Amino acid sequence: MTRRRIIAGNWKMNMRGDTAAALAKGLVTAVGDEPAVDVVLCPPFVYLDVVADAIAGTPIGLGAQNLYAADDGAYTGEINAGMLNDVGCRYVILGHSERRALLGETDDQISEKLHAALAGNLVPIVCVGETLDDREAGRTEKVVETQIRGSLAGLDEARAASIVVAYEPVWAIGTGKTATPEQAEEVHALIRQLLGELFTPEVAAQIRIQYGGSVKPSNAKELLGQANIDGALVGGASLKVDDFLGIVTAE
Ligand code: 13P
Repeated sequence: MTRRRIIAGNWKMNMRGDTAAALAKGLVTAVGDEPAVDVVLCPPFVYLDVVADAIAGTPIGLGAQNLYAADDGAYTGEINAGMLNDVGCRYVILGHSERRALLGETDDQISEKLHAALAGNLVPIVCVGETLDDREAGRTEKVVETQIRGSLAGLDEARAASIVVAYEPVWAIGTGKTATPEQAEEVHALIRQLLGELFTPEVAAQIRIQYGGSVKPSNAKELLGQANIDGALVGGASLKVDDFLGIVTAE
């Protein structure tokens, strides 16, 4: 089973509109017409439009960093899947550890968001990952399993193959400490096995699992070379054209 690699830039809460446009335009030129991988940019909500314009007609996809799992209504400050579709999104990051930690997002809420994303024809990128405390206490497996089971609750087999999972060990995010390729592959293999149990091994073999946490051009090749690592969810290094390109073109 060959899975097409997917490299996504999570810009988090960085930059302003002019920088967002410049970065997106720089990447359009750098990535070219036929990248060997799927490339996705996830700017802050308010710059989705700006980035959509910059990447229009190119193979680069647009993603949001979150959504609210409800149809239009009285939800002050929130953005739903229909709105994301309207501005050209094809992807949405769900359950990022920063949202889990800072905003108390739960697996139940992430599962609701997953269903809202799929109903709105968005590809969900579902994030899971253990903290340093979890890892040191030997709880990595248990934590990741609980997050996967909870976040994917109610997902049926027919739709499961289209989702993307991102394994992002919290201790490796923005810290410069990358999981070793072996550490990452161990968890990715475990996630795929679990997906096989939740769905079927055939479906699990189609689901792309990204690694995230201090991915940069210098470590991308080794990480992406692992059997069960199908892409990267990139924070800091996605904010510079050359760094992101180095990950997109890593072989
Ligand atoms: P860094 O690449 O900055 O470690 O961030 C990873 C991340 O959280 C992507 O979602």
